[in-house]
Amino acid sequence: MHCQTNKVNEIERFAGFHRNKIILAVVLFVSLGLFASCRDVDVEALKKVLESHKMEGAKYVGSSTCAACHEKEMKEFKKSTHERISIPMEGVKVEGCEMCHGPGSLHAGSGGGKGNKIINPSRDPATCFACHMEKKAQFNLPYHHPVEEGHMSCTDCHDPHGLNAKPWSATSMQDVNEPCFRCHKQQRGPFAIEHLALREGCTSCHQVHGSINDKMLVARDANLCMRCHSDTYLIGDHASRLRQGTCFSGECHVAVHGSNFDKHLRY
Ligand code: HEC
Ligand code: HEC
Ligand code: HEC
Ligand code: HEC
Ligand code: HEC
Ligand code: HEC
Ligand code: HEC
Repeated sequence: MHCQTNKVNEIERFAGFHRNKIILAVVLFVSLGLFASCRDVDVEALKKVLESHKMEGAKYVGSSTCAACHEKEMKEFKKSTHERISIPMEGVKVEGCEMCHGPGSLHAGSGGGKGNKIINPSRDPATCFACHMEKKAQFNLPYHHPVEEGHMSCTDCHDPHGLNAKPWSATSMQDVNEPCFRCHKQQRGPFAIEHLALREGCTSCHQVHGSINDKMLVARDANLCMRCHSDTYLIGDHASRLRQGTCFSGECHVAVHGSNFDKHLRY
């Protein structure tokens, strides 16, 4: 099959601006199977994961075997993006439940059970990284959520089985940011004066996998705000103020997440 990897990169670069439209396109592409089989899998990384879980000799048996005992996960999984992915690897196709949980013959053959020859990526994101290599690099940036440190998991923000693998695929502000509010209650408000930026999602200002900027910000200076407020230079004496510090420093708009007191978000 002709490989479409470039297309994927292009889409990813664009995605920051047209997230919803692009994701829809990506989902369509995936469901057509156009590039699913071309994604790079780090086969060596995958092998290391299997070894570390002492799963030598385990074989891929297919999701239908899992369905017998895990009806709930099976049902949810039918709606997920991952359900449509299949990756050819050394004579087998890595797909379904086993793409994240590893080959399941030994687990299934011995009646299943917790900790019984099966990977649970909740405690070890390594299987996710085998396919999402660029995410590993993001989590290695100086400011990141402590997933690799073992303090939290990909599944604190992503539902691995269900439809909501994308935390941004929601219709209201509460829904978009809900996974974040579970741990960051201060930013939930409610605020008498909202900053409407939050309706576009926390990710309009934060790179939550990781960033080179403190607080995982997209940018550490006025550029963070200028992406939406490019006309602000024209108002009052903003040009001279910006020489003294950035928009959200000092006496300026420090209440970036919303305020109960000031409509200009100064406190
Ligand atoms: C995209 C990766 C991925 C795929 C595909 C996947 N899972 Fe999971 N699964 C996970 C993760 C991550 C967890 C840990 C969930 C958590 O942290 O709550 C998990 C947890 C589980 C658990 C343990 C649940 C618990 O409450 O302890 C079972 C059982 C399970 N998965 C079965 C399945 C079955 C059956 C399939 C196929 C229908 C499947 N999984 C497909 C990633 C995946
Ligand atoms: C014969 C029944 C049976 C089959 C077949 C089976 N499992 Fe399980 N599995 C269990 C039981 C029982 C548990 C423990 C209870 C639970 O977590 O739901 C379990 C637990 C799990 C867990 C959680 C392990 C942990 O340490 O947290 C995962 C993940 C899992 N199974 C995935 C799979 C996958 C993937 C398949 C198909 C390759 C599969 N199971 C096939 C019975 C089975
Ligand atoms: C065997 C390869 C493979 C594994 C393992 C895997 N993924 Fe994926 N994942 C993909 C592919 C392919 C796509 C679709 C293309 C894309 O968006 O990158 C995808 C898409 C996604 C998306 C985009 C959201 C969506 O629904 O479209 C998220 C989030 C995601 N994966 C998270 C995870 C997490 C978390 C794990 C580990 C629990 C994981 N993936 C494991 C291959 C994999
Ligand atoms: C703190 C919450 C959080 C954690 C933890 C997290 N993610 Fe994400 N992830 C997000 C958000 C939010 C987005 C959407 C990004 C955006 O809109 O800019 C996303 C997007 C994605 C995407 C699809 C879009 C893309 O950028 O390619 C993948 C794949 C993904 N995450 C994988 C993972 C994996 C793998 C892990 C664990 C190693 C993980 N995520 C941990 C919040 C999280
Ligand atoms: C499971 C809990 C959890 C979830 C869910 C979560 N975070 Fe976090 N967040 C943390 C932890 C833990 C830290 C690290 C705190 C530290 O190092 O002091 C953190 C740090 C941060 C920081 C940097 C704070 C600082 O003081 O440096 C930002 C910004 C942030 N998270 C935003 C988000 C966003 C946006 C989301 C939703 C996409 C999210 N978080 C989801 C637990 C979570
Ligand atoms: C308009 C941009 C913007 C949006 C949208 C945004 N933040 Fe922030 N956030 C910031 C800035 C700027 C800082 C750093 C403030 C500083 O360093 O003085 C910050 C800091 C944080 C911190 C560190 C603690 C603090 O208050 O300084 C957390 C946690 C956080 N944000 C979480 C979130 C969550 C959760 C969301 C979504 C509900 C969100 N942010 C949306 C701009 C934003
Ligand atoms: C994703 C787009 C977006 C980003 C990024 C953003 N804002 Fe906003 N902001 C808005 C929208 C929308 C409004 C409400 C409409 C308006 O007044 O322009 C608003 C309103 C405001 C207001 C109140 C308007 C007033 O008259 O005073 C202030 C102050 C503000 N933003 C400051 C900031 C600061 C500081 C940053 C950077 C940390 C920032 N914004 C980043 C979208 C954004």
